[in-house]
Amino acid sequence: MNQHTRLRPIPFIDLAAQRHRLASRIDAAIARVVDHCQFILGPEVRTLEAELAAFCGARHALSCASGTDALLLALMAKGIGPGDAVLCPSFTFCATAEVAALLGATPVFADVDAATFNINPASLRRAIATARRLGLKPKAVIPVDLFGLSADHDAIAEIARTEGMFVLDDAAQSFGATYKGRRLGALAHATATSFFPAKPLGCYGDGGAIFTDDDELADTIQSLRVHGQGTDKYDNTRIGLTGRLDSIQAAVLLEKLAIFPDEIDARHVIAQRYGKGLADVALVPREPDGYRSVWAQNTIRVAFGTRDRLAAALKAEGIPTAIYYPKPLHWQTAYRNFPVADGGLPVSERLAAEVISLPMHPYLDPDTQDRIIDAVRRALRH
Ligand SMILES: Cc1ncc(COP(=O)(O)O)c(C=O)c1O
Repeated sequence: MNQHTRLRPIPFIDLAAQRHRLASRIDAAIARVVDHCQFILGPEVRTLEAELAAFCGARHALSCASGTDALLLALMAKGIGPGDAVLCPSFTFCATAEVAALLGATPVFADVDAATFNINPASLRRAIATARRLGLKPKAVIPVDLFGLSADHDAIAEIARTEGMFVLDDAAQSFGATYKGRRLGALAHATATSFFPAKPLGCYGDGGAIFTDDDELADTIQSLRVHGQGTDKYDNTRIGLTGRLDSIQAAVLLEKLAIFPDEIDARHVIAQRYGKGLADVALVPREPDGYRSVWAQNTIRVAFGTRDRLAAALKAEGIPTAIYYPKPLHWQTAYRNFPVADGGLPVSERLAAEVISLPMHPYLDPDTQDRIIDAVRRALRH
């Protein structure tokens, strides 16, 4: 490898490579929307919803304006509000807890598992006890399927059943992943996902969807996403929001969904290669038996105190990295006054200091990946 090749910058997520593959199909799909002019909730939206529901095996798929709106709409539909506790992991993107706080409910943080980075059922139980002790009603739990890997949905469902809690799965990063042979979307009372461009299935702007098998919940969400409409849009039966998906985004997603299974397979091959290449120098992510990740991220753990040096060494070679997440939510200014599970959240705190994500997308070719693996190995061996 010559010096020139070694320093060529590598994209963290190469959206241009996918664009290259699909450009003519997507441009034609967008042009069709521009021609028919039904820009909001047009025919592409209906087709997309049917295809998304079929893809994950949920009875209803309701598209919406973002992953955050997907979470918000589901909690609004359940009437979550002041006095209610919404349990969620602390090691996640802020939107997971934000939606509970926006509705006046109290996010109560649980710790995560050190191997999967997903909510730890024992800590969830402790967080429920904490909520009760504070006089809050534990109404809902939002497990997150972080970095593409499913949470332990059987364990969570069991706790939620005994506690009478609503389960809203935050699959913003993980649409397409499977748990015990079933795709996320039909494993919780409701599942939210995001179509933000960098997500495994992303559009050309903001977008999201909610999945559920519950007819009544689906009806309420349909109403809420259009200002709480009743029989028509000038009949307002509840307070809602403008939470719809644009037809152009649906048209883009339909083309991307057609190649999504192929992209998931490609991500899997790349993740296995990272695992083989780095297992002896870092803690590499693994899929537990019965789980299949969509590898939204490839996030390794390195020894405490070595991460900054690794990131700097990779940057010097044109290799970008990202830290998801440098602070657990219970340390963030906006969230630090919300309760945490008894016993604290030591794993979330530790992970925030040790994780680092490497370039990951379905078009990462073997030579580029070898360059990344070699650079990580060299940096960690020094
Ligand atoms: C775990 C998680 N939840 C929710 C969201 C919110 O999705 P959006 O950005 O589409 O609102 C994200 C997006 O990054 C996320 O990663």
